[in-house]
Amino acid sequence: MQTTVGIAGISGKLAQCLVKELLKYPEIVIRGYCRSLQKLPPSISQSKRIVLIKGGYDDRENARKFVQGSDVVVCCYYGGPELMTHGQEILIDACEDAGVNRYIASDFAVDYTKIPRDAIFPKKSAQIVMEYLTTKKVSGVHILTGGLMETFWSDFFGLYNSDNRSISFWGTGDEQWDLTTCTTAAAYTAALALDRNAKGVFRFRGDRKSIKDIKGIFETVYGIPLHLKQKGSIDELYQTVEESFNMNPEDISSWAPM
Ligand SMILES: NC(=O)c1ccc[n+]([C@@H]2O[C@H](COP(=O)([O-])OP(=O)(O)OC[C@H]3O[C@@H](n4cnc5c(N)ncnc54)[C@H](OP(=O)(O)O)[C@@H]3O)[C@@H](O)[C@H]2O)c1
Ligand SMILES: *[C@@H]1O[C@H](CO)[C@@H](O)[C@H](O)[C@H]1NC(C)=O
Repeated sequence: MQTTVGIAGISGKLAQCLVKELLKYPEIVIRGYCRSLQKLPPSISQSKRIVLIKGGYDDRENARKFVQGSDVVVCCYYGGPELMTHGQEILIDACEDAGVNRYIASDFAVDYTKIPRDAIFPKKSAQIVMEYLTTKKVSGVHILTGGLMETFWSDFFGLYNSDNRSISFWGTGDEQWDLTTCTTAAAYTAALALDRNAKGVFRFRGDRKSIKDIKGIFETVYGIPLHLKQKGSIDELYQTVEESFNMNPEDISSWAPM
C-alpha cells in the first residue's frame, strides 16, 4: 500500500535527512512544502517520488493544497514563535479540513512534557502546539530526541570551540546528555510516519553521555586532547539564564542556548 508523507519546510536540514530515510521505503511518496523552491538540492527537486508545492507559512490556500492527499504531515519548520506556533496551527487546520489523520509536530527536542509551563523555555511553541492538537480531529505525534548531536558541536550552543579544541560547560561534567544525530532522528521519524497507529508522544535517544565521556571518546577517536573548561555550577547557570532572560526576553539567542 502506498503511503504519502507531507513535509512542511522541506528545505531544512532535518527535512533533508528525513527525505533520505523516507525514500529507503519503496512504498512512500512525498509531498514537500516550502517558501522557495530554488535552493532545493537536485536529489529533492528532480525526484520522481516528490511533488513540490510552494507557499509561505501563513498562506492557508497553498497549505491546504500541500496537505491534500497526505496520510501524515511532518512539520520541519524552525524559526521564531510566529512560524512555530501560528505556522503550525495553519498546517494543523489544513490537515483537519483535508481529513489528514496524523500530524508530526516540529519538536525533535528535549522532553518538554517535564518542563513546567511557567519555566523559562525557548520552545514554548511546542507546548502550545501540543495543546492545540488535543482540540483537533487530527492526532498529534511528538518526537522527543534530546539534543541533536550536530547542534551540540555547532556554534549555536557555544559549547565547542574548534580554535583551541575545548568544551565550555556548566555543572560537574558528569551530568548525562540525551543526544541523537540528525540521521537517527530522521530514521525514527520515517518509521513513525509509516506506522498508521503511531499517535502521541515518542521518546527516543541515540545515546546518553556526559561531557567527560565525550572528552574520552573524542581523544580515543582523534588521538588529540580535548580541553574542558567549567563555567560554573548548575545553580549559577540557572541564575545567569534568568538574568539574561529578564534583561531581554525577545533576544532568544542571548539566553536560549544556555
Ligand atoms: N534538539 C535539538 O538540539 C535540535 C537541533 C536542531 C534542530 N532541532 C529541531 O528540528 C526541527 C528542524 O530544524 P532544522 O535544524 O532542520 O531547521 P532549518 O535547517 O533551519 O530549517 C528550517 C525550515 O523552516 C523554514 N522556515 C524558516 N523560516 C520560515 C518562514 N518565515 N516561512 C516559511 N518557512 C520558514 C525554512 O525554510 P527556508 O529554507 O526557506 O528558510 C526551512 O525549511 C526544529 O523543530 C528544530 O527545533 C532540534
Ligand atoms: C578556548 O577559547 C575560548 C574562546 O576564546 C575561551 O573562552 C576558552 O576559555 C578557551 N578554552 C581553554 C581550555 O583554554
